[in-house]
Amino acid sequence: MDRIRIIGGNPLNGIIPVSGAKNAALPLMIASLLTSDTLTLENVPRLADVNLLMRILGNHGCDYRMDGKRVGDAPYAGQTIHLEASTIVDTTAPYDLVSRMRASFWVVAPLIARMGVAKVSLPGGCAIGTRPVDLLLMVLEKLGAQIEIDSGYVHAKAPHGLRGAEIDFPKVTVGGTHTALMAASLAHGVTLIRNAACEPEVRDLADCLVKMGAKIKGAGTSTIEIEGVTRLHGARHAVLPDRIEAGTYAMAAAMAGGDVLLEGAQESLLPVALDILRQTGATVETTARGLRVARHGGVIMPVDVTTEPFPGFPTDLQAQFMALMTRAQGTSRITETIFENRFMHVQELARLGARIRLDGDAAIVEGRPVLKGAPVMATDLRASVSLVIAALAAEGETLVHRVYHLDRGFERLEQKLQACGAQVERISDPG
Ligand code: EPZ
Repeated sequence: MDRIRIIGGNPLNGIIPVSGAKNAALPLMIASLLTSDTLTLENVPRLADVNLLMRILGNHGCDYRMDGKRVGDAPYAGQTIHLEASTIVDTTAPYDLVSRMRASFWVVAPLIARMGVAKVSLPGGCAIGTRPVDLLLMVLEKLGAQIEIDSGYVHAKAPHGLRGAEIDFPKVTVGGTHTALMAASLAHGVTLIRNAACEPEVRDLADCLVKMGAKIKGAGTSTIEIEGVTRLHGARHAVLPDRIEAGTYAMAAAMAGGDVLLEGAQESLLPVALDILRQTGATVETTARGLRVARHGGVIMPVDVTTEPFPGFPTDLQAQFMALMTRAQGTSRITETIFENRFMHVQELARLGARIRLDGDAAIVEGRPVLKGAPVMATDLRASVSLVIAALAAEGETLVHRVYHLDRGFERLEQKLQACGAQVERISDPG
């Protein structure tokens, strides 16, 4: 299995192009199952999760084709993928595929909306919490589907089609809102979603669905209205920039020091996180090309943070911010409100010398002047990258194991960091 070797201590100076957002690309790709026409997605990141989802969609009968390099393309421009599900040949999403990527459960929405039937494996738990799908099933039931759970599979049926309904989410759910958007777009009548997720990725999906002929108002706010249509058609859509990738490199620059331009990053996608970063002492500026993040010496100030749905501080940046706080001059409190078990990085950060104590849903981080490199291993994507960030600012060598987590969500991580002067390399095991 590959490992990443990092020798810490170098500041980061240079340009990091921000890739297309994984968490926007995945639901957009799934939306291709809603139409028999071609959905063309631009700026799709080259990630293991994208490749796996193509296989999952292929199992339902979706063809995919990727554009080759074009004259004038930036060296690592995002890829353009054409997805065409002209005939759905299989309405079952099997355990061996769904269990490898939770978001693939969302195929249940287009399958039931278009075919009136879907059999999708329950995704199961994962390293950051139990992550149930009860609210996604609530959406489908409200829209008139009959749901049964049998032998680990959700069997959904709506032989006469879905019908519009009022959906009140008891808590904000991104996946639940994606499910409702996709299913309601092909339902008879009007659907009203209250307490909808306002995440930019939800808005990106809605924008694409509108290009495909859906009638959606209010996406990006907590109340969304969808008037169902009988069919959706093909469209072309560019995936929005990855705010979590941008925030991750922003934290890295704030921690290691230096001056980095995050090309394509947008302040409006990360309002609270960037404000907090400024409070830690980093400089964050919007420029014509993206966001510039710098820290030239000076101390890292401790700041308390609580994760919240958008526009609050994202849970997907919690681990990275904790890494930054391990070097702060003082103590900070990081409270996780979205997932109940998203502190698996704490014990690994401790291997680098961090002092962190857990107190219920909060981590108390006592900043220290120096971290020291060590072998570390992570259990999920964002936890892994928090270890990379900490290692960049630690003395000596860190070996990060289980790199496949990083490959799921960070495109060309080593190359992007190397281009800014970091000493990072991948060690591939021959076996
Ligand atoms: C999306 O997951 C993201 N995944 C996650 O990113 C992100 O952390 C999360 O939203 C929150 O922003 C993708 O977009 C692929 P939720 P999702 O439904 O949709 C509870 C990453 O690292 N809940 O908004 O699965 C749930 O347990 C990943 O890129 C229910 O109780 O998250 C959680 O506590 C990790 N019942 C809360 O809601 C349900 O039926 C929010 O989860 C659904 C969710």
